[in-house]
Amino acid sequence: MPLTSVELTYLPGLRDVLADEVAQVLPGARGVRDVRDRDDALALGLPGSLAAVAGLRTAVAAWVVVHLDVPRPKSFTSPEHLRRIVDAMYASLRVGGSSTFRFEAAGADSPAFTRLGDLLHEATGLLHDPGTGDLVVRVRRGLRRGDVDPGWDVLVRVGPRPLSARTWRVADFPGAVNATIAAAVARLAEVRPADRVLNLMAGSGTLLVERLLAGPVAAAVAVDRDAAALDAARANLEAARLLSRPPRPVLVRADATDPDALRAAVTAPLGGPADVVLADPPWGTLHGSHADAPRLHAGLLRAAHAVAAPGARLVVLTHEVKVMERVVRGAADLWVPRSETRVFAKGHHPRIHVLDRR
Ligand SMILES: C[S@@+](CC[C@H](N)C(=O)[O-])C[C@H]1O[C@@H](n2cnc3c(N)ncnc32)[C@H](O)[C@@H]1O
Repeated sequence: MPLTSVELTYLPGLRDVLADEVAQVLPGARGVRDVRDRDDALALGLPGSLAAVAGLRTAVAAWVVVHLDVPRPKSFTSPEHLRRIVDAMYASLRVGGSSTFRFEAAGADSPAFTRLGDLLHEATGLLHDPGTGDLVVRVRRGLRRGDVDPGWDVLVRVGPRPLSARTWRVADFPGAVNATIAAAVARLAEVRPADRVLNLMAGSGTLLVERLLAGPVAAAVAVDRDAAALDAARANLEAARLLSRPPRPVLVRADATDPDALRAAVTAPLGGPADVVLADPPWGTLHGSHADAPRLHAGLLRAAHAVAAPGARLVVLTHEVKVMERVVRGAADLWVPRSETRVFAKGHHPRIHVLDRR
């Protein structure tokens, strides 16, 4: 069976998590490799349909890649090249419908692209909407090898939106974590169906939603001290159709740094101690302050320990890099550090710490 050439983009730092997800979700993938000179893209070949690509949760976007050995984009309009671009657009449309397309390319408003846009419209029926078209056709120079002309790559995004856009996100919550990072947190915590999962400082529930979408759990509880955050989490869980489906996540208002209050609030709805604790403490000045970060992080590790089973995993996503390092050293009698993953997201560099309870 012929292979479709696919590129997956991701947030720098999440390469290994995505590669692990690809091995699980796309077992037919061949030749998974890094794209040269990039720290945000994996290349692979896929036999058959692209439908399974849409199930990836740690990728930002998936693209069908067509390499054209031509000197300039003007030549894309010759029938054999045009056919390949149109085929890639149809492969994307089979995964998710669009009615419009746009180019992302240097010179996208040049006569060569206007002509190409007209021909693609004729071939696919999609409207060329340069500003807001759904189906993105990206054009870039190919990879240079020696003195040979590198040609051009045409990348057609799979589906009308990036994979990182989640339809369940209906509540706008300041400081909500990027969904692909949340999906990575869920995978780093390991997805086991018997787990009782506790999401502390849950905000709008991104970590919990992504964990529940990654696989079944025995019980799920979200904790925040702010009623508005819990309302946002409830709306998102509802939109993801997770609220009324067993095990019916429970939302609790409590201080996640107070071991006694937390134990009293979560033990019954969890049905016992937590096997997995996920947390995304406040950062910047949105929900807390930098000055309060040491107390908050130390309190979080202590309280999470109080409600977790021996051997439980704690995954903390934090922007307070130095504070967290100090706090983890200070909590060595409670938690054993397992891994630390640095992610680059829109100018921020949060870390994902995985810790095992003693
Ligand atoms: C960075 S936000 C979490 C964002 C969340 N991951 C999301 O995607 O929406 C941090 C949250 O911690 C909550 N918080 C701060 N201190 C807390 C405490 N002591 N106990 C419980 N929640 C707390 C805030 O109300 C806020 O909702």
